[in-house]
Amino acid sequence: MTRLAAAILVLGLVALPAAAQDSKKEIQKYRQMVAEGSPAELFEVAGEELWKKPQGPNKVSLEKCDLGEGPGVLKGAYAHLPRYFPDTDRVMDLETRLLHCMTTVQGRSREEATKRVFGNANQPSEMELLSAYVASESRGVAMAPGTRHAKEQAAFELGRKLFFHRAGAWDFSCTSCHGEDDKRIRMQYLPVMSKPEGARRIVSTWPAYLVRNGEFKTMQWRINDCYRQMRWPEPAFASDATIALNLFLTATGQGEPYAGPGTKR
Ligand code: HEC
Repeated sequence: MTRLAAAILVLGLVALPAAAQDSKKEIQKYRQMVAEGSPAELFEVAGEELWKKPQGPNKVSLEKCDLGEGPGVLKGAYAHLPRYFPDTDRVMDLETRLLHCMTTVQGRSREEATKRVFGNANQPSEMELLSAYVASESRGVAMAPGTRHAKEQAAFELGRKLFFHRAGAWDFSCTSCHGEDDKRIRMQYLPVMSKPEGARRIVSTWPAYLVRNGEFKTMQWRINDCYRQMRWPEPAFASDATIALNLFLTATGQGEPYAGPGTKR
């Protein structure tokens, strides 16, 4: 399918009357159709340009950035994150590692590099575009985050605890919405993501293009937005909490070949 055909298809489906969409079958058909021609590609192309663009005081691109497979190696890098990095003695996810490269390789300040991490449809953020490109270079590679190092195991355990921890004004945990089979909120079937069957499809499709508002979003944004829905304070960017949750989910869904960046409604 051409990109134009895909765009028309997507716009047409968004305009479908709500009643016509209101069945599980319709949603599955829709998912399959958009999967055939994803607008996410446009973000991947823009992300590749940014990856190769000299920036910061050092006036260099990110092409020397080591995402865990060696400097500049992108193939499979996303599928192996989050993982432990000896140079920072920390478990890092994609965005945290990109931020690290922006400050070390490019010499930018953390403040400048994180000024605008979550963008919008008119102007996606640098993090979002870079994530689209880097993740696309893992297509077909089995998800295999770091699970052997002691810090990786500690992060997994923290993520598991956070996932089941109830708190906040509504005494919600992640399981309040993601703990029951086929629970449905606003047309979205919410899988039990603490089990491999549910986690696999999710971790192999983020970051993702959101059809409903034309934005491209990362896993960190997804988790932050759920914190907001739980009426908990939003985690800081590149926080250990989101990295831990990300590792818990990715390790739970490990083995699934990466099939993103995905398209979600
Ligand atoms: C108040 C209900 C609620 C809670 C609690 C909640 N979420 Fe969500 N979550 C949602 C909804 C609704 C969606 C789908 C949103 C949409 O339509 O895109 C979602 C989607 C997700 C997705 C993407 C699923 C997919 O199919 O791609 C992830 C990952 C996720 N949540 C993680 C979490 C984590 C981690 C927590 C706990 C920190 C959490 N959520 C807590 C409501 C919730």
